[in-house]
Amino acid sequence: MLSDTNNKRAQFSTKIGVIATAVGSAVGLGNIWRFPYEAGSNGGGAFMLCYIFFIFLLGVPLICAEFIVGRSTRSNEIKAFEKLAPGKKWFLNGYIGVLASILILSFYSVVAGWTLEFFIAAVTGRMPSDMSELHDFFSEFISGNWRPLVWTVVFLLLNYLVVSRGVQKGIERLSNCLMPAMTLLLIAFCVNSLFLPGASEGVGFLFSPDFSKIDSHSLLSAMGQAFFSLSIGLGGMLTYASYFPDEVRLGRCATTTAVLDTFVAILAGVIIFPAVFTYGISPQSGPTLVFETLPAIFMNLPGGAIWAALFFFLLFMASITSTISMSEISIAYFEEEKKLCRKKATALTIGIATVLGAICALSFGPLSDIRFFGMTVFELFDYVSSNVCLPVGGMVTSVFVGWVIDRKIIDRQLNIRTNSLPWVKLLIFILRYIAPAAIALIFLNSLGII
Ligand code: PHE
Repeated sequence: MLSDTNNKRAQFSTKIGVIATAVGSAVGLGNIWRFPYEAGSNGGGAFMLCYIFFIFLLGVPLICAEFIVGRSTRSNEIKAFEKLAPGKKWFLNGYIGVLASILILSFYSVVAGWTLEFFIAAVTGRMPSDMSELHDFFSEFISGNWRPLVWTVVFLLLNYLVVSRGVQKGIERLSNCLMPAMTLLLIAFCVNSLFLPGASEGVGFLFSPDFSKIDSHSLLSAMGQAFFSLSIGLGGMLTYASYFPDEVRLGRCATTTAVLDTFVAILAGVIIFPAVFTYGISPQSGPTLVFETLPAIFMNLPGGAIWAALFFFLLFMASITSTISMSEISIAYFEEEKKLCRKKATALTIGIATVLGAICALSFGPLSDIRFFGMTVFELFDYVSSNVCLPVGGMVTSVFVGWVIDRKIIDRQLNIRTNSLPWVKLLIFILRYIAPAAIALIFLNSLGII
């Protein structure tokens, strides 16, 4: 029988720390950068409804599933599957997770690097306030030969510094105080956006769904976005849960994380779309959408540079609390499976991400001609990780928890004594049937197979 406690492994110290860290992993560029650009490219309101639907139908159960696997085994992802199903092939799912986490870390760090460039530009007074100058400023920056590269590397180095200090010290302290500050600032910008001339058009775009815009590709994107935003499908939540104390209530923690994460994504949408319509930016601009829109909002406010600096600093912090959790997936693997010390495991993870991240950083400029299936390297990493690895990883995890592992382990992890609570029954039902079927259907449909 597996032991639920293993004193040698680090643990988070407080319950609030656990929730703050799970939310810190979930809330990041996924909400503020990726959600608005995906919603903008996939028709707005209908996409958002599908996204919210996936968050609660599949996301919350899958966070619970990852929490159960992680805390019951107190191991890295690959070992966790091995411990719960010895001698079987389930551990292969862990490799998909490690691969996806490195791919995401690579392109995510590029965008996190953009937040640093904007922060410095705001602080040093280099940020233009005129719309067309802003556009030129950003496109010159991302297509440049070295600045995006330098910021990607700087961001990864900062990430290295935090992560190599260990689980508790590095992560907990950061996430405890920054998330509330970020949320308050977002609420203030939300109110500001609602007074912009394009407010009703923007709010209409986001809140009046037009389902004719939804096809199998946008459904897959909404599901991929839900998984990306909740850090599930690649073992992000699984790895964090391996450090959770036994008293933490997993169901409550999963729900709180999902609610707060969705709230932040909706706030970001309400900030961005009124401005998109006010300043005549195309909602379909893709990954650059938010970085063209936000500075326009800030620079048209009194004291604009201060708002911009504050916002980009907090966005950078939100990014780093997410990349810490991505890095932790492969670090735990290198540490425990390859027997590297923490510093070496961290250096290896960050080293690989730096090489791949450099290619992504340059794929908006000098390497923009290198394309696979019409996508740049950056777009390819983004697409493959979110729309392939995360759904596949999520499906395998849900089948695994629903069908393979012992119900007693599930009950014990959910702190349940009798196994008849309705919400637990519903959870198991979703993990057994609904999640695998829905993911398989959407995935295969978008490939044109069914
Ligand atoms: N959920 C994070 C965000 O929204 C990204 C992330 C993905 C973090 C996967 C960890 C693992 O920004």
